[in-house]
Amino acid sequence: MKPTLYAHRGASYYAPENTMPAFELAYQMQADGIETDVQLTKDQVPVLIHDENVKRTTNSSGYIKDYTYHELCQLDAGSWFSPNYAHTPIPTLEDFLTWAKHKPLYLNIELKNNKVAYHHIEAIVYEYISAYQLTNRTTISTFNPNSVVKLLNYRKNIEIALLTSRRYRYPIHVAKELGASALHLKYKLITPKIVASAYEQNVKLRLYTVNRPAHIIRSIQYGVDGMFTDVPDLAFYYRNLL
Ligand code: G3P
Ligand code: CA
Repeated sequence: MKPTLYAHRGASYYAPENTMPAFELAYQMQADGIETDVQLTKDQVPVLIHDENVKRTTNSSGYIKDYTYHELCQLDAGSWFSPNYAHTPIPTLEDFLTWAKHKPLYLNIELKNNKVAYHHIEAIVYEYISAYQLTNRTTISTFNPNSVVKLLNYRKNIEIALLTSRRYRYPIHVAKELGASALHLKYKLITPKIVASAYEQNVKLRLYTVNRPAHIIRSIQYGVDGMFTDVPDLAFYYRNLL
């Protein structure tokens, strides 16, 4: 099986990450799925942005948890990337689900709650996905094992993935024991042993963030279930080639 290609924060090499233009471009580049990050505003609106603070990717500063949605939606999340994207707003989860609803895309929604403890983010995000009837093609991922447990206790009809990194380094069996059906692993941490272990324990293995041609090729050769890439066009090209 060839890996499923998820555009990481949309086609984020070509357009400002986690914005509707980046998602649309990824779709046009024939990505199989879109990965995005969710945080909560002060008034509990789920919005799509990677960092807890808006400073890097908008024309303002401060923590998302301290902004109301009304305040946040006025920020420009495109100009930092290019003047061509001036006045592009931070999308809500609802904007994203509305857009994705009638497109044949897999969705990966990452809960960004490993630094800020957003209360009830698991339930809030799940309820939106469920209301849009998208649970059958959505994965919720998180670095937070407690969120995996909460999501599984809460509902079982959606795929849950545990994220790992150098800092949060969970082996396959931890994902399995928690009840997650997938492990999302930093590309640099992959070994043949991990690939074999994922296969044996029936845990899906997906790699992030795979951008260089050599890494895309190696990921395909490893036979992983999926990869997250900023360059979905390139990944699509190599997947067709091999
Ligand atoms: O979901 C994979 C990847 O997005 C996790 O890392 O920092 O890019 O959100 P990050
Ligand atoms: Ca992410």
